[in-house]
Amino acid sequence: MEFLKYQKVFVDDLAGTDFNAFPEKLYEPVDYIMKLGGKRLRPTALLMSTDTFNGDLNYARHAAMALEVFHNFTLVHDDIMDEAPLRRGKETVHTKYDVNTGILSGDVMLIESYELLFKYADHKYFAEIIKCFNEAAKLVCHGQQLDVDFEERKDVSEEEYLKMIEWKTAVLFAAGLKIGALLADASLEHAQAMYDYGINVGLAFQVQDDILDSFGDPEKFGKKVGGDIIQGKKTLLVLKTLEGLAEDLQEDFLSLINDRSMNEDIKVELVKSKFMEYGALDYAEEIKSAYRNKAASCLGKVEDAFPKVSMFADLTVFLLGREV
Ligand code: IPE
Ligand code: IPE
Ligand code: MG
Ligand code: MG
Ligand code: MG
Repeated sequence: MEFLKYQKVFVDDLAGTDFNAFPEKLYEPVDYIMKLGGKRLRPTALLMSTDTFNGDLNYARHAAMALEVFHNFTLVHDDIMDEAPLRRGKETVHTKYDVNTGILSGDVMLIESYELLFKYADHKYFAEIIKCFNEAAKLVCHGQQLDVDFEERKDVSEEEYLKMIEWKTAVLFAAGLKIGALLADASLEHAQAMYDYGINVGLAFQVQDDILDSFGDPEKFGKKVGGDIIQGKKTLLVLKTLEGLAEDLQEDFLSLINDRSMNEDIKVELVKSKFMEYGALDYAEEIKSAYRNKAASCLGKVEDAFPKVSMFADLTVFLLGREV
């Protein structure tokens, strides 16, 4: 598998990196979350993108690390916001340490990710790279805010949901793919094609994440299954179910979704049975495949000049066939 080859390049680099420093209480959680495991999708995709355009993997490894550090920073803060107890099958940072630690260790990770990118200060595309990273970083915040806002809203549309997941999840994948291409001196058109692939694959990935959050195997998923339901998240599953319900029943379903006092297991089972009754699971799978196909078509723009791009088919399989 091509994916595993590039993943190993990143994992080896990570194994040789010690995030511990003074003050210990600030940096130990950074080392903890960074070494907790995870699929390393974003840095692996960045390295694959660089290699597609005949770039140097060793040169691109700082950018791959920057992306993974940034991603892990978002996870630490996201887990505080989502009150999540588990991450990658282990305790979340704020559970193992405390919320203040999660906030500050997350902050320092954000800064560390920029520091890593400054290794490319002399690159001809440096300004472009920082611009791309800034835009993605800001949009992640926009997406995260909408995700929270939507919990309180009753009339979230599918279009709004898709924009929210594009921002909170897809743009970071896309930025990594674009940066990988830019580091290899690819043309801006080719870098943009990689970005567009990242957006589509990232959208499919988040739809799948939402599916797994409700229907995943608790042994494999590594996060608390049912977490989105307990939190009252407006996932595609919820929106599709609402669409299928008669108007008078919509209120009942919304009250169920927003009920924070009901026994959690009972709530999760009740909500999941509604998802099934209204075909929400099949629908979410359909949307996921549609974005997967769209992603594949973006690679066509690169294929003639850089045939190695076909290895992204392997990444798509890895990304969208996951159970964790
Ligand atoms: C989790 O991302 C956050 C989402 C955008 C769904 P991953 O599923 O890539 O998490 P790890 O890094 O592999 O644990
Ligand atoms: C994650 O969304 C988006 C970011 C971390 C920016 P989720 O809240 O769905 O991610 P998980 O499910 O906790 O990994
Ligand atoms: Mg979360
Ligand atoms: Mg979240
Ligand atoms: Mg999730």
